[in-house]
Amino acid sequence: MAINSKRGIELLHDPALNKSTTFSEAEKQALGLVGMVPEVTEDEDLQLRRVNLQLAQKPTDLERYIYLMNLLDHNETLFYRTVMSDPARFLPIVYDPTIGEACLKFGHIYRQPRGMYLSITRRGKVRDVLKNWPQKDVRFICVTDGGRILGLGDLGANGMGIPIGKLQLYTACAGVPPQFLLPMYLDAGTNNEQYLHDPLYLGLRRARPSTEELYSFVDEFVETVQELFPKCCIHFEDWTGVDAVHLLQRYRDKYCVYNDDVQGTAGIVLAGMINAAKIKGTKLSDERYLFLGAGSAGIGLANLLCSAMVGEGLTRNQAQARVYMFDINGLLEDTRKDLVDFQKPYVHKHAPTRDFVAAIETIKPTTIIGVSTVGGTFTQKVIEAMSRINERPVVLALSNPTEHAECTPEQAYTWSKGKAIYAAGVQFPPVHLNGQTFLPGQANNFYIFPAIGMAVFATQASRVTDEMFIEAARAVADQVPSELLKQGLLYPLQSNILETEIQTAARVAKLVFDSGLARVKQPADMVAFIRQHVYKPEYKPAAAQASTAA
Ligand code: NAI
Repeated sequence: MAINSKRGIELLHDPALNKSTTFSEAEKQALGLVGMVPEVTEDEDLQLRRVNLQLAQKPTDLERYIYLMNLLDHNETLFYRTVMSDPARFLPIVYDPTIGEACLKFGHIYRQPRGMYLSITRRGKVRDVLKNWPQKDVRFICVTDGGRILGLGDLGANGMGIPIGKLQLYTACAGVPPQFLLPMYLDAGTNNEQYLHDPLYLGLRRARPSTEELYSFVDEFVETVQELFPKCCIHFEDWTGVDAVHLLQRYRDKYCVYNDDVQGTAGIVLAGMINAAKIKGTKLSDERYLFLGAGSAGIGLANLLCSAMVGEGLTRNQAQARVYMFDINGLLEDTRKDLVDFQKPYVHKHAPTRDFVAAIETIKPTTIIGVSTVGGTFTQKVIEAMSRINERPVVLALSNPTEHAECTPEQAYTWSKGKAIYAAGVQFPPVHLNGQTFLPGQANNFYIFPAIGMAVFATQASRVTDEMFIEAARAVADQVPSELLKQGLLYPLQSNILETEIQTAARVAKLVFDSGLARVKQPADMVAFIRQHVYKPEYKPAAAQASTAA
């Protein structure tokens, strides 16, 4: 949007156009801003210094989160400049782990509307609601019904913090321009009694509907998006496990959709496994996997992992035979009567057991993967059993937020006597043990979904496929330098995340073209093509336009 379309206070109140204290004298004159902003003309670095000063005075990360969201409401460029100036520092504030607390308190810390709230009471009129969104070329909608937010359960409308945060990561991590992004909450009620009785709760005060009713509402939403925003990709986020898998199956072959909990998590964990195998000198198909948790994240990962093993030469049955799962009711085995369709490929012949350590002793996994939502479930006995069986046990404790991690890196390294290859879903500091420094990696989807997003954005891909996630996983894995791999680091460093994602997006974009899914002409240089699309948190020079407008 040209900066000269707005003037004076209207311009200052538009976060996409506001330059705050950096308007030049010519711009102030031309845009009716004389006296409306301080007399000085600062540069961006000085503005960033002020932001850092004010952030330093905030006592908690939640306060810093609130401050940064407020900054975003007033000055989008400065917000992204801040976050992109030091991703390793700011991602944990705008996203995991602070976002968990922000969601729990969403109705209480709420300041400004952001994104859209689509209520099930508007069924039949979804088109009228979506037409209210001012941007006509929407490329990504991140949508939740708040059904399972992080590992925190049904948070209803409080879950809106997640689509808002996720889409900020498209921009901050991979440079997808923010004007194309729309966070969305589908409000179908909540079963969270605490929120239903909280006067400051911002959602419908009623219990969740039947699955049939919910899915018909989602159908209307998805179909309307195709009609109003034909280039839009719908990113499903933090629905309950069963809904996540079923809605993905429902739409994936018809529309441009994906589910980050199912496919993005799978992609990032796969990247970690590729590197764990590199450290051990094995292949994915040499390993044996035991999951704790068989929900959307677990099933999505198991499916993608099997596809990757098929890529290494196994049949799908042989690949599935290497994957075992254990959930709240014990091991998934052939006498279980409580399993859903998508869990069945991972049911094996085995005596029933609810004892995870006993399952480790008989199955003898090389890798355990925690996607259970329950902190502390990888106990000392679990890690010791894994260390007895394996020279280098792979321990992935992926549940988040932090206190939900199945074990901490310190526990994994201490109990395994330094043998474990470990990654978590959240960021943990390095661990020093017996003179050695271990670098626990963060298996965070933000290495994958923003890069997939950038590839889809640049190529205008018509579908999002599993192969795109496998390629993204390989690209991420390939970007960990060998000296850091030796220290156990499975993922690239966050400080360089934009460059990592550009390289990943370029590899995914190539696959999109090769698969015939692109809707633009193929470029000669894929990395340069991605770079052309990257958003830069810089103010647009307004003086020339301003003088013509004046
Ligand atoms: P979900 O609710 O679909 O599934 C949870 C699974 O864990 C179910 O199979 C349930 O039976 C099982 N479970 C619950 N309590 C258990 C216990 N005490 N022992 C064994 N199994 C138990 O949840 P979803 O979507 O699969 O997510 C799981 C976790 O993975 C969440 O904490 C989520 O935050 C985390 N996750 C992490 C990501 C990352 O980037 N690291 C990305 C996506 C999810």
